[in-house]
Amino acid sequence: MRTLQDRVKEDGVVIDEKILKVDSFLNHQIDAKLMYEVGQVITEHFKDKKITKVLTIEASGIAPAIMASLHLDVPCLFAKKAKPSTMTSEFYHTDIHSFTKNTTSTVVISKQFLNEDDHVLIIDDFLANGEASLGLHRLVKAAHATTSGIGIVIEKSFQPGREKLESEGLEVLSLCQVASLLGNEVKLVGE
Ligand code: G4P
Ligand code: NA
Ligand code: NA
Repeated sequence: MRTLQDRVKEDGVVIDEKILKVDSFLNHQIDAKLMYEVGQVITEHFKDKKITKVLTIEASGIAPAIMASLHLDVPCLFAKKAKPSTMTSEFYHTDIHSFTKNTTSTVVISKQFLNEDDHVLIIDDFLANGEASLGLHRLVKAAHATTSGIGIVIEKSFQPGREKLESEGLEVLSLCQVASLLGNEVKLVGE
């Protein structure tokens, strides 16, 4: 089976110098076996952290998150992009700004599913500016729970996400680190 790195390089489509399209295995069509392996690697890394819950954000974070939760044998919770009817006192909510899409969306999780005893592993498909993961971390803090780590499928290392998360004291594991998309070419860190 081809590795995640091979898939990113061979099947990734460079849209511009900042955006990589991976619709053939992650963001539109999903390669379940590849996601299963992603979940295994993330689980192996965080297995001593006593994780009680995996947290992600709809939609594209769900595939890697559910596989990590399968291997960790804990529930997978996904933050929902809020509709006005969900903005009640039963929900924690936070605003997440996307520099990539130039939009701000409110995301929510039900208070029912996160509490102070939880040790949370945050998972997302992409790490760019870190705003999605920081928003999920704010929801964890609102519940007085603990963020035990962050697992990312594809990190764009030329953007400041990792730096921002690490300066919050968060441990970040990313399975594939893209160094550059310049010249229509995917260059990975270490190449
Ligand atoms: P950030 O969370 O790291 O700050 O990232 P940003 O706001 O810039 O990204 C916003 C959305 O765009 C996210 O999806 C994110 O996964 C996605 N994204 C960012 N960079 C890339 C990229 O190079 N390629 C692809 N394919 N996606 C990227 P979202 O709005 O949550 O949408 P969904 O796909 O989860 O539904
Ligand atoms: Na996405
Ligand atoms: Na995402």
